[in-house]
Amino acid sequence: MEDNVFNQMAAKYDTEDRKELANVIANEINRILDGKNYYSLLDYGGGTGLVTFQIAKHFNEILLLDSSHEMIKVAQSKIDPKQDYNFEARQLNLMEDNDLGFKADVIILSLVLLHIPDIETLLQKLFNVLNKDGMLILIDFDKNESIYHPKVHNGFVQNEIMELLTKIGFHDIEMHTFYHGKNIFMNKDASLFSSISKK
Ligand SMILES: C[S@@+](CC[C@H](N)C(=O)[O-])C[C@H]1O[C@@H](n2cnc3c(N)ncnc32)[C@H](O)[C@@H]1O
Repeated sequence: MEDNVFNQMAAKYDTEDRKELANVIANEINRILDGKNYYSLLDYGGGTGLVTFQIAKHFNEILLLDSSHEMIKVAQSKIDPKQDYNFEARQLNLMEDNDLGFKADVIILSLVLLHIPDIETLLQKLFNVLNKDGMLILIDFDKNESIYHPKVHNGFVQNEIMELLTKIGFHDIEMHTFYHGKNIFMNKDASLFSSISKK
């Protein structure tokens, strides 16, 4: 039995609801990136690329990493040979592997942190992957006490994320709730926050 749930879901991951939520997230990230110039992007846990391809115009080089090889396959099927940026998608789990061979100006984590049991270790590793002056953009759900799942965080308290990012060494941290939606988190109403922090 396949133990990576995203490998099982990959072929049917891109539903209308998920595309709609990805559009909301991509709009928020594009708002953050507009008017700035960056070279490289790491989309960690980028999945099928629902968000990645919508923000690609800001970058020359894009690496999408994901621990699910099936999600990666779907992302790779969306590569357009005419696109004017370098795009690579490959399977990697930073929790098990330290050698990325890539440094990024911007890292995004969209709806990934909630699936990571030890978020401090992951954020520390991503800090090491960022170039100096680079930016980490986190998008995730605000804490929602009405949700319980043994393998998924039920969202996050923004102040706790801010303390953790500060402890790791990030600075100029900004965060806010940017969207409230119906049935968007395990069929419950929930809100999304974005966090920007600099290395
Ligand atoms: C909810 S999906 C979000 C996908 C994409 N970021 C988006 O917003 O459309 C979570 C993704 O995180 C990936 N993931 C979970 N744990 C991971 C880990 N330890 N390392 C890399 N990717 C991971 C999953 O395989 C899945 O593709």
